[in-house]
Amino acid sequence: MRTAFFSTHRFDRDSFQTNEHDISFFEASLDDSTSSLATGFPAVCAFVNDRLNTAVLHKLKAGGTQYIVLRSAGFNHVDLESATQLGLKVARVPAYSPNSVAEHTVGLMLCLNRKLHRAYARTREHNFLLDGLLGFDFCGRTVGLVGAGKIGGLVQKIMQAFGCRVLVSDPALPDSLELAELLSQSDIVSLHCPLTPATHHLIGRAQLAVMKPGAMLINTGRGGLIDSRAVLAALKSGQLGALGLDVYEEEESHFFRDLSDKPLQDDILARLLTFPNVLITAHQGFFTQEALANIARTTLENLSSFERKGEAPGPNRLPYHGASALSSSSE
Ligand code: NAI
Repeated sequence: MRTAFFSTHRFDRDSFQTNEHDISFFEASLDDSTSSLATGFPAVCAFVNDRLNTAVLHKLKAGGTQYIVLRSAGFNHVDLESATQLGLKVARVPAYSPNSVAEHTVGLMLCLNRKLHRAYARTREHNFLLDGLLGFDFCGRTVGLVGAGKIGGLVQKIMQAFGCRVLVSDPALPDSLELAELLSQSDIVSLHCPLTPATHHLIGRAQLAVMKPGAMLINTGRGGLIDSRAVLAALKSGQLGALGLDVYEEEESHFFRDLSDKPLQDDILARLLTFPNVLITAHQGFFTQEALANIARTTLENLSSFERKGEAPGPNRLPYHGASALSSSSE
């Protein structure tokens, strides 16, 4: 099927090599100003920072698009109610490699704790001092996981193997703690729940205040789980000891592109990047060979199924009726 791929990078071209479908790769992200690129394509393939709002969906429909395949599990960037009303069929990749994100999460924890990012820069300058690089043993520490589904559950196992006590706040689990209790006891807090209206700014000023002074906060979930301004204030006051982010509230304006020769327009992101105890990666948790292969395989299966049967395979099918623009599962 002729498919317009948006927000594509070299790695997409590499992993989506197929004779079965006629793919056009566009580097542009999908939004109101670029949707006309999809005119005449029966299928559109989108990634996490594409914006499939009502206006864009109307334009896609008017241009002849019938099917939308997401190279992601999360669908918080798609207005599913409008898609349903317009008769656009949407499919996703429900799970491709929770290990990829779990391992990246633990990588951020280790790097921040032992200051590997600083040590790397320092030794390359032939500075072999240890001042400022003091960490702590993970063994015996308490890790609080907000969300313990596929990814959080794997982080739990890894941290238990380090000898950590792991606390969990997840309404789906019987041993779930209240968020405030988890925050007050944890040396490291890591977020693995979906972004929904209920979890938007789950970590704000009040929650940061009840965290252990000097604790570490990790977010590889979704940027909107954290109130970035509140986090910035907590870093400035020293209440927050370290911050590791793979996602950021306003990431669609920055992540997945090289802005190195331009002034950074986002003052909060720019300020966060000045702290030595902040480590930001640009949404690379999913970026492993295994995850890319799984994303490509399932996305192509979705396209083939749309082409042959007019429907995606059951588990990959969207919408969930009544889901709002913010509701999501995993990415
Ligand atoms: P999952 O659906 O397996 O697990 C999510 C868990 O969060 C569920 O157990 C659910 O009960 C729980 N939850 C829901 N609301 C909650 C709340 N208010 N407080 C605490 N827990 C709550 O999802 P999965 O696959 O583990 O993904 C988790 C997150 O990881 C998602 O937010 C997703 O966007 C993110 N992700 C990030 C990637 C990256 O590259 N950085 C890649 C893939 C996913």
